[in-house]
Amino acid sequence: MGLLLKVIIPLMGLGLAVYFYSAPENFNEEMLRGKRVIVTGASSGIGEQMAYHLARMGAHILITARTEAKLQKVVERCRELGAASARFVSGSMEDTAFAEEVVKEAENTWGGLDMLILNHIGHSYFKYFDGDVDHIRKLLETNFLSYVAMTVTALPMLKESEGNIVVVSSVAGKAGGPFVAPYSATKFALDGFFSSLRHEFIIDNVNVSITLCILGYIDTDSAMRAVSHAIKVAPSPKEECALEIIRSGALRQRELHYPPGIVNGMLLLRDLAPGFLDNLIRSNVIAENVQRAPPPHGTRVPPAGSPGSGH
Ligand SMILES: NC(=O)c1ccc[n+]([C@@H]2O[C@H](COP(=O)([O-])OP(=O)(O)OC[C@H]3O[C@@H](n4cnc5c(N)ncnc54)[C@H](OP(=O)(O)O)[C@@H]3O)[C@@H](O)[C@H]2O)c1
Ligand SMILES: *[C@@H]1O[C@H](CO)[C@@H](O)[C@H](O)[C@H]1NC(C)=O
Repeated sequence: MGLLLKVIIPLMGLGLAVYFYSAPENFNEEMLRGKRVIVTGASSGIGEQMAYHLARMGAHILITARTEAKLQKVVERCRELGAASARFVSGSMEDTAFAEEVVKEAENTWGGLDMLILNHIGHSYFKYFDGDVDHIRKLLETNFLSYVAMTVTALPMLKESEGNIVVVSSVAGKAGGPFVAPYSATKFALDGFFSSLRHEFIIDNVNVSITLCILGYIDTDSAMRAVSHAIKVAPSPKEECALEIIRSGALRQRELHYPPGIVNGMLLLRDLAPGFLDNLIRSNVIAENVQRAPPPHGTRVPPAGSPGSGH
């Protein structure tokens, strides 16, 4: 299993990647100069790295997340790196009204928009599904509905600029894995929605590209904190990942698979031998290190005096 996962499948995937995804046009960082770009979830991780790349390329940048202090620092760094301009709006994407507000801010500041990079995710967990339906509802608001709301609000500007929508998803949005049921559900939703919308754009001659980014394990602080104790593969670098996302969006690619070897290999197996892929995915997690859900409600003995212990 180890050799298969580490060598053979990535090699197979890489071969396929070269065969199918050799870009028709070459990427040139000048493509982003002066472009007006929104990046969500840019206070840390991959989003933060995308902001720095865009800054170096001379783009106008509007970033957003909840934590103002972090956004402030990222904006300052973007200015140092050479951004044409850099600003932020802070707030929570759990509220679709805020999602629309971010796009309105771009409209008020720039009078247009070239690229919308949807990247944020709300906090979820890496453990057995705990039965919390409300958590899934909230996560769908943050990880899915806000993406739809921003797309709807930005579309007139993106049509005008013949721009790009870039949606950051995950292998968990293409193939199910254990311990991420709520997160996986929100990422599958993105694929369904945006892959459908892409058809309509093409049928209707709407020249706005939609790029769905299927990412494997990336070395951001939050991902390492959440899963490094329980999965066996090594993470890929966030800086390169961020650059690949921008590149794929600028080249108007339909999907980005990063890292290409592992992701293409997995997608190939998913279609050819799904049961085998499932085994491989399970062999790659250390289930003993994963927290079990608490016993079902009713069997638990609440500590004396805790709220709700009266019934
Ligand atoms: N890292 C991986 O291994 C990996 C693998 C596959 C896919 N991805 C995808 O890559 C993207 C970025 O992941 P990452 O690892 O870079 O994550 P990250 O470092 O945790 O960044 C998440 C960003 O979202 C913001 N955020 C969190 N809750 C929010 C809310 N309620 N409203 C608005 N913003 C919120 C965070 O800032 P605040 O806390 O300040 O709001 C932060 O800027 C995600 O779409 C993720 O699914 C990552
Ligand atoms: C779509 O927009 C891109 C970017 O402006 C342009 O290069 C391409 O020629 C356009 N395609 C069509 C069919 O108009």
